[in-house]
Amino acid sequence: MANSKYEYVKQFEVEDEVMLPNLIVVQIHGCDFHKFSDVHEFQRPNDEQALNLMNACAVSVLEEYPDIVFAYGFSSEYSFVLKKLSKFYQRRASKILSLIISFFTSVYAAKWKEFFPQKELRYPPLFQARVIQCATMEVLQHYLAWRQRDCHLTNQYNTCLWKLVKCGETEKDAREKLKGTQKKEKNELLFQQFGINYKTLPEIFRQGSCVLKAKVEDVVKYGENGNPIKRLRRKAYIIHSENISGRVFWNEHPGLLNELGGFAENIAKIDPDYVRSFQFDSKLMPSTWIVVRIDGCHFHRFCEIHEFEKPNDKLALELMNSCAVALLQEFQDIIFAYGVSDEYSFILKKDSQLYQRQASNIMSVIVSFFTAVYVMKWVAFFPQKELKYAPSYDGRVVCFPSSEIVQDYLAWRQVDCHINNQYNTCFWMLVKSGKSKSEAQHTLKGTQSQEKYELLAQQFAINYSTLPAIFRLGSSVFREDVVIYEKGSLIENLQNQVVVKHYILHIHERCQRQPFPTKSWIFSRTDQAEMIKRAKVFGEI
Ligand code: GTP
Ligand code: MG
Repeated sequence: MANSKYEYVKQFEVEDEVMLPNLIVVQIHGCDFHKFSDVHEFQRPNDEQALNLMNACAVSVLEEYPDIVFAYGFSSEYSFVLKKLSKFYQRRASKILSLIISFFTSVYAAKWKEFFPQKELRYPPLFQARVIQCATMEVLQHYLAWRQRDCHLTNQYNTCLWKLVKCGETEKDAREKLKGTQKKEKNELLFQQFGINYKTLPEIFRQGSCVLKAKVEDVVKYGENGNPIKRLRRKAYIIHSENISGRVFWNEHPGLLNELGGFAENIAKIDPDYVRSFQFDSKLMPSTWIVVRIDGCHFHRFCEIHEFEKPNDKLALELMNSCAVALLQEFQDIIFAYGVSDEYSFILKKDSQLYQRQASNIMSVIVSFFTAVYVMKWVAFFPQKELKYAPSYDGRVVCFPSSEIVQDYLAWRQVDCHINNQYNTCFWMLVKSGKSKSEAQHTLKGTQSQEKYELLAQQFAINYSTLPAIFRLGSSVFREDVVIYEKGSLIENLQNQVVVKHYILHIHERCQRQPFPTKSWIFSRTDQAEMIKRAKVFGEI
């Protein structure tokens, strides 16, 4: 079956390259971290361990992505600045944003135990992100000044608030007392009522944290003569500074000057119009189906290192499925998901108002939720295998104007699953039978589906149709009423359960299966001839 028939759906993806000379900043912040901090009993107003964990994640991000040259963070937020002429993922905003947020969340979940050995991570930490474009260095300067001012204001307010609460006031009364107070008054309150000199509180609380990079030499091995063989590596480190948008701080770091440029003057006042642009988030077109597709980043390597079975590792696929199930349980607006290999597509209902349809918010929560659950569930699926490094996913959001096009989108992904799986099954059978990888490639070059079917049957006595459906057809995740009978009597009638099935998408009439059973998901088109054709190709009939 030709793949191209459905490939037209790719045209609905929008270009989102951040054009030069704009600087790229990715701002991420914890989603509903108020609740997250309460549930995990973080100290108020600042939990130093929680901040250290955030900093460790930011350090990992800078060490993972060479193009990120600076980061600034406080509380549950972090901003990452890419070098001026970065070509990272062709400067595509959604790719960059999703990768950073996914990697950050992954490290957060993976390192949790190290920072909180006594506390269980009760549920996945969620982060939201947006890409901010700064047209000049001066705009970047305003951005950094704005973030550090927020750090200061929130910290000063929260220090007063929680001191008052500790001394017996209700949270409501304390907030009332602080309403409309100026910075100076808060400092005086702290000093007079609690004997606290605000300036002596830890820098990490008052000023936030910066991450920079330094070149260090690592000894990678020793040569035959015993001499060390060194390699230059960029190591990220944390510093605190009172004024990160000041000329003095910025211009004294050659790394920042070289990769981004200097600050000409100190700024006196943060421009409110700039701040408005920093807060902008574009919305997706109303009344369109929103599809978020995530894809494992460099999963070829991830699968090798974790010794996944080839071509398909059932447990690895089941772990992916279980993350998708968790997503459907968490977000009612996701009505259907389809997964294959290291990718998953999530379809949101047409009239979804999730995050007011703000594209980056929708994508970032889906990608961060999926990644966090993957890391958290790893041990349940692979109790004998250590998770060697934090996996990450990139994401994109696409809007489709009609359900027919969504069907074609799904058909496109499923045909891809079929083509890859049939090829990979043949390839690895040939390799396992003693052929080299290039010989196997040569044998399969230009072969059609039917020829591969025959090759498997004749050379390896494998009937392709009998291979597990999860490999051949991918996985569909949706809600369904589940009715369980035992010996003729009803045991359970569970409404709206999230289930995983392995269908040929589209086959409604022929097999009496309903891949899209939600009421809001009504397909008008049932082209039986097309379905039967496809069923034949997939090896179902
Ligand atoms: P990018 O997505 O471009 O970052 O690269 P990638 O390495 O993730 O490749 P891609 O997404 O195109 O393909 C997914 C890759 O994941 C496959 O080529 C396989 O190498 C690997 N993979 C996915 N599922 C399995 C599995 O069940 N077993 C094994 N062994 N590998 C798998
Ligand atoms: Mg991939």
